[in-house]
Amino acid sequence: MLVDSYNRVHNYLRISLTDKCNLNCIYCNPNSITNRLEKASQILGYDELLRLINIFSEIGINKIRFTGGEPLVRKGADDFFESLKNKYSDITFCITTNGILLEEKLENIINSGIRKINISLDSLNNDCFIKMTGSSELTRVLSSINKVQEHEINPKINTVIIKGINDNEILDFVGFAIERNLNVRFIEFMPFNCNGIWNKGFMPYTEVKKIIERKFILVKANQDSSEVAKDYKIEGNPGIISFITPISEHFCENCSRLRLTADGSLKFCLFTPEDKKIDLKIYLRDKNYLDSDISQIIVSAIKNKQPERPDIDNLVQLKNLNMLKIGG
Ligand code: GTP
Ligand code: 5AD
Repeated sequence: MLVDSYNRVHNYLRISLTDKCNLNCIYCNPNSITNRLEKASQILGYDELLRLINIFSEIGINKIRFTGGEPLVRKGADDFFESLKNKYSDITFCITTNGILLEEKLENIINSGIRKINISLDSLNNDCFIKMTGSSELTRVLSSINKVQEHEINPKINTVIIKGINDNEILDFVGFAIERNLNVRFIEFMPFNCNGIWNKGFMPYTEVKKIIERKFILVKANQDSSEVAKDYKIEGNPGIISFITPISEHFCENCSRLRLTADGSLKFCLFTPEDKKIDLKIYLRDKNYLDSDISQIIVSAIKNKQPERPDIDNLVQLKNLNMLKIGG
């Protein structure tokens, strides 16, 4: 099992399939990033990913989420998902997507057995969606959500709230959760590569919750302690509202997550500095390293995982980290 020095068991691996994205969200700002992965040889091939999934499954990973950039822009992603089908009965595969390409790839995704789909959606209003994402494809995302629900899968909706930009839509999102019987998760804005708008735009979850509680009664739901979201039922209504609070109440003490970047680096925390990540690609591409050697490297390295994310002042300094490369 993957246990760190603070007795945290790690069973959840997030794999970024690419640092390409078909949106340009203001909180992630991909167009400003200069060190993008351009050459195919820089990213792990699907055969290398399969090898790593085997290795991780042997050391206790039983949940894998594919992220990006946008995972579905990577060529062959849906075929890759299908190739995982029935191979790993102990692993739950999940994806987090912006929903733009989801509708057209959904049949393949469903056929691959993936049932856990999280969709980012930051605005229900066309103009605001354009402002936040640089794209006018809101209707495509909404249509993807419908299609997923037609398959009797309830996607979770990830909504980053930024003061002065989409905070006027908080109650609209609660209405959306109720109308569609969905789980809408309000995520606190994290200070990554975001044009300095974080200082003005950060809104603690308590403020978001207060706005909701003017109209609805939120009742804490029972849930597993390893989940990052705080879930609430909306009294008298369907749907779930959650808060993901990495800034105002971090959840490091229950952290069960590892992250693999598209270029094959292992990060133990979203905020692991660039010089502290572990480049697994070097070992994967060196014939001297057997799977058991790579397992050993991972199992030993996790002992250096930090007990907590950096404090806020230090977080704001972490300018060279960006979500696009880490996958959220
Ligand atoms: P579930 O498996 O459905 O619980 O999904 P998830 O919340 O693990 O994954 P998702 O990709 O939907 O992530 C939602 C948000 O939570 C993203 O903004 C992530 O960056 C944030 N998040 C997830 N894990 C961590 C973490 O370990 N640290 C921090 N700071 N944020 C996290
Ligand atoms: N702050 C909070 N959440 C973010 N995400 C991306 N960048 C940020 C940020 N700076 C979220 C996306 C997506 C998830 C994977 O990460 O909205 O839902």
